Amino acid sequence: MDSKMTGDNPYQNTQAMHGSGEQDPFNLLQILIGIQQSSHYIPEEAIQHLAESLGLSRTFILGVIEFYSFLHRSHRGDYEVLFSDNITDQMQGSRLLAERLASRLSVKIGQTRDDQRVSIDYTSCTGMSDQGPAALVNGRTVIGLTPERIDQIAALVEQAVPLAEWPADLFLVHDRVERRDLVLSADYTPGAALRRHQTEGTAVILDQLSQAGLRGCGGAGFNTAQKWQICADTTAAEHYVVCNADEGEPGTFKDRYLLQAEADRLCEGMTLCAAVIGARQGFIYLRGEYRYLLEPLQRTLQQRREQGLLGPNILGQEGFDFDIHIHLGAGAYICGEESALIESLEGRRGIPRIRPPFPVTRGYRDMPTVVNNVETFINAAMITQHGAEWFCSVGTAKSPGTKLLSISGDCDQPGIYEFPFGTSINDILAACGAHHTQAVQIGGAAGRLIAPNEFDRVLAFEDHATGGSFMVFNQGRELLNAIDNFTRFFRHESCGFCTPCRVGTSMLTKQMKKVMVGHATIRDLDELSTLGNLMQQTSQCGLGHTAANPILDGLEKFPGIFQARLRSTSFEPAFDLDASLEEARNLTGRNDPGAHVKGGGV
Ligand SMILES: Cc1cc2nc3c(=O)[nH]c(=O)nc-3n(C[C@H](O)[C@H](O)[C@H](O)COP(=O)(O)O)c2cc1C
Ligand code: SF4
Repeated sequence: MDSKMTGDNPYQNTQAMHGSGEQDPFNLLQILIGIQQSSHYIPEEAIQHLAESLGLSRTFILGVIEFYSFLHRSHRGDYEVLFSDNITDQMQGSRLLAERLASRLSVKIGQTRDDQRVSIDYTSCTGMSDQGPAALVNGRTVIGLTPERIDQIAALVEQAVPLAEWPADLFLVHDRVERRDLVLSADYTPGAALRRHQTEGTAVILDQLSQAGLRGCGGAGFNTAQKWQICADTTAAEHYVVCNADEGEPGTFKDRYLLQAEADRLCEGMTLCAAVIGARQGFIYLRGEYRYLLEPLQRTLQQRREQGLLGPNILGQEGFDFDIHIHLGAGAYICGEESALIESLEGRRGIPRIRPPFPVTRGYRDMPTVVNNVETFINAAMITQHGAEWFCSVGTAKSPGTKLLSISGDCDQPGIYEFPFGTSINDILAACGAHHTQAVQIGGAAGRLIAPNEFDRVLAFEDHATGGSFMVFNQGRELLNAIDNFTRFFRHESCGFCTPCRVGTSMLTKQMKKVMVGHATIRDLDELSTLGNLMQQTSQCGLGHTAANPILDGLEKFPGIFQARLRSTSFEPAFDLDASLEEARNLTGRNDPGAHVKGGGV
């Protein structure tokens, strides 16, 4: 048996434990991530061992492994290279680069080489759209891929150079802030928000946040003061603070920047929230793709402990105890949905909970839990330090303050931009150097596709709300490629719990394939539309509600791109029953007329 399975501490690579140590089933996901990292798969012995030590069934553990994209039961290469497959990476040539690496290393994409040295595959957006094409090598982010870099990586793999000895510049992720406004350019003093809470009390802090009109920056825009107030008002043995740093929305990377450059402000905001709601424990749920940020974040936490801003008796205040653990995700977009995130935090599959109750009254360990986005916590800390008036000095009456945007795609200066709410799409396009723009996808794959006749509209909760992704497509792009990419993304990321989304995302993908290869008819477009509307109405959570957005927006605003690909016949099957029987015919060696189905399409 592998020594990692028999040693005293088989999980020593696991850095993000929480709860009561190895015996706590809530640590399962973190333990599995550690095993995957050190063994390149989850061996059967490990599963047996964990089942016994954590008191879980084998089936439960298998279910967890299967759920997360970064956990595997079969051996992955010593070097696992995952190419980011967002449309912006594709636009920058990622697919050709993946093929180049596969060819250099003599391995097929999607497979592990026979000597188990290397495997190459694709993964969802890695959050590097401003500096792509990007890939993950054993979880470490590599950006700005070029043919030269690919050849360099191929040589390093063939020479079996340990990842720790690879040239550091391969792993350098830049902070590309192209525009600062109110929040990013304001002074920040560590502990200032906490001191204000200490001297003026919870009611004043909540009043400030309320006057500032702070709303959640993760997409839904829920009133932050109200969320904290409800949580504080809910009587329970414990309260928890959770930072949603999952940022899986394709084309979004503003939280990555904040986690990299402004982690101290984030901790200040989380600790402020803890003071308001009476929490002793907080978590940063860090998406697996941002693993490179784990150590810097841990350093920030340690520094704050040493400064008396985290840990027991914060600011010398007896009984104000609060600490933050970092919990790693393992490649599942749905875990950004707050109730799925909590399930994942508890070591389970990230399946959204049926709500109500909402996390704010029954969340982590069934206790009242505030889940906020990275940007929201930072804004809360800054508003508390500088005051509500300061925040309301920019933005609109209904949307005070600013919004961070992750701008990528066809523009001269991709990167992070802070704009006051109320800025028009035209102004944003001018600022980032976009020309001949055909469309903008705002809010990621789950967001909206915006046509030029809407470019005078503004970013604000009363007009176009957004979590922060802003992808630009110029006139030279085939927009259908983007729509198809987003549709396949949702099929892959659907957690499969409810039928409308599980089946719907799969059917949308098949229908889109028909469109892409020029086999679709008018009736197929009608079906796409009917299906999309049905999913919006009947799915269990936000993923299913929004999965058809790119198609529905495309059909409404860019009908020509669909019609140009139509066939003239009125109907053609999406599923070829006869072709699907090919494997069975090969196995049985039959190819007589009885082994074929005529007109078997559905
Ligand atoms: C499918 C799905 C994915 C989501 N992903 C994220 C995410 O990556 N980050 C985030 O902050 N919120 C995400 N959300 C929204 C969260 O559920 C939640 O509303 C948010 O974390 C609350 O924080 P806020 O009030 O500060 O925005 C997602 C929602 C859905 C339905
Ligand atoms: S809508 Fe999709 S992601 Fe959400 S619960 Fe249903 S299957 Fe899961």
